[in-house]
Amino acid sequence: MCGIIGIIGKAPVTPLLVDALKRLEYRGYDSAGIATLVNGHIDRRRAEGKLVNLEARLAAEPLTGTIGIGHTRWATHGKPSERNAHPIATDRVAVVHNGIIENFQELKAEMEAEGRRFDSDTDTEVVAQLITSYLERQMAPEQAMGTAMARLRGAFALAVLFSGRHDLLMGARRGSSLAVGYGDGEMYIGTDALALAPFTKRVSYLEDEDWVVLTQNGAKVYQGTQEVVREVRQSGISGAMIGKGNHRHFMLKEIHEQPAVIGDTLHSYLDPATRTVTLPALPVDWAKVSRLTMTACGTAFYACMVAKYWFEQLARLPVEVEVASELRYREPPMPKDGVCIAVSQSGETVDTLAAIRYAKAHGQTILAVVNVPESAIARDSHGVLPTLAGPEIGVASTKAFTTQLTVLLCAAIAAGRARGTLSEVDEAKIGLALIELPALVNEALNLEEQYRRISEEILAEARDVLYLGRGTSFPIALEGALKLKEISYIHAEGYAAGEMKHGPIALIDELVPVVVVAPSDAIFDKTASNFEQVKARGGKLVLISDATGVARLGSQAAASVTLPAVDPLLAPILYTVPVQLLAYYTALAKGTDVDQPRNLAKSVTVE
Ligand code: G6P
Repeated sequence: MCGIIGIIGKAPVTPLLVDALKRLEYRGYDSAGIATLVNGHIDRRRAEGKLVNLEARLAAEPLTGTIGIGHTRWATHGKPSERNAHPIATDRVAVVHNGIIENFQELKAEMEAEGRRFDSDTDTEVVAQLITSYLERQMAPEQAMGTAMARLRGAFALAVLFSGRHDLLMGARRGSSLAVGYGDGEMYIGTDALALAPFTKRVSYLEDEDWVVLTQNGAKVYQGTQEVVREVRQSGISGAMIGKGNHRHFMLKEIHEQPAVIGDTLHSYLDPATRTVTLPALPVDWAKVSRLTMTACGTAFYACMVAKYWFEQLARLPVEVEVASELRYREPPMPKDGVCIAVSQSGETVDTLAAIRYAKAHGQTILAVVNVPESAIARDSHGVLPTLAGPEIGVASTKAFTTQLTVLLCAAIAAGRARGTLSEVDEAKIGLALIELPALVNEALNLEEQYRRISEEILAEARDVLYLGRGTSFPIALEGALKLKEISYIHAEGYAAGEMKHGPIALIDELVPVVVVAPSDAIFDKTASNFEQVKARGGKLVLISDATGVARLGSQAAASVTLPAVDPLLAPILYTVPVQLLAYYTALAKGTDVDQPRNLAKSVTVE
């Protein structure tokens, strides 16, 4: 969603704010803006569209000041326009906000009845107007902020600048993430440690309902009127992690990081000597678990779909998977001794958070597979299984997905061992296959020219593309279709190969490419029949398989990709690479914005 930053310091703050917004732009890019204090007065520059537009505006009309706030927006209330761009300001305060104020209409009506005039269509403006109205009633900024917070419903991370107060910046958090950075005579507030990374590594994370008062030399955090202490930690994020390196796009860099980050993740879960899995300490006795519920959104949901097969097969555990936005409102009964696993790259997706809160309230033990260990989902869970993907900036998730799969497979192995459904010999066999996985993923990356050719010659020309797969290849077909939709804007559908005859087969003609994800496993013959059915109707087939599969079907395909042979259990991780790169090169051929596709945002903190 939106990204926010605030700085109180001694040097001109505009270049620093813009620099931080560049690192936050992955969260939203409909509009951007900054506000500073110039001779005690709030001055701001805002621009519709991407950050470059704001930079152009600032070049034409520079903004001075040593204290300021900035924002990059993914629109929820009010269309993306300069008028609705943050900072939203009155003559007394300027506010940047991530989240949604659910009772904004009620508050707006109340304040309009008192004669206050609103200048934007945003929900955020009620925050600015509320604080202003309290300041006008002679409240101090701290009291005005606390009083305003008590009136707001919904989720927010806020940074607030006060006119006439060069010595004061305030922030508040409910639901959406907010971090405080400690510099030398300079203090920072921002959405995440990534935004603050080049400024300082000393970071503390605010808890829900915290509000914070920043001066140049420190921060005081409060809950209500009570001062509280939030530990200052050393952030592990380095400058190198947030650049594109030699790659043209973050997405391409992140796809290429997969052998390394899968290796890093395995390193903390798998003992290479014994080939056995060790999970972090979790409050779960797998032998006693009655049912596993898995929930997530987007790409992370497809990781749950794959993991269902693994937990069923290796641990003989009944598994339910459901997208979080449905689970949270369905009111499903939840069994005694049940475990719920939430999967989320950001750890802040609001639907996933709500789903685990439901499961928790219904007696489930909650485990989080997250890439951000300080995130709300991690904090709301009983146990955390971290992915070690490093920061993921490209909006379309790639390395987060394959590391989620890696962690989930390790968890299924541990559950299988604890339940007595996986023998030591079999665990060691899978352990060995996992050790070899990063090298196989690397081999799959080396086929880049093939992905580029298929994308340019077949996919980029299409209006619709079908992806088919069976078993664990079915979620990979779904993920392939999602990736293509997200970044190339070509309509794509993923289907369970066996379901094709029940509908999608009607779509098949020579204009609809069909990408078949089919490692030569126990169900390859079944997928092969579906392949023939498409062929018989003139479909243009792209086969992704291994040497055995390509030898069998390749001659009938318009194009095929030969991946290295892999243990079928691990195939979904390896077979993700081609579908990612097919989407990437198709988007490149179509000239779309790969890292910041239209209408999307990286982490979705609204419903
Ligand atoms: C957004 C992103 C997706 C991501 C989904 C879930 O839609 O664009 O790439 O899969 O959110 O995000 P999470 O952070 O919970 O994994």
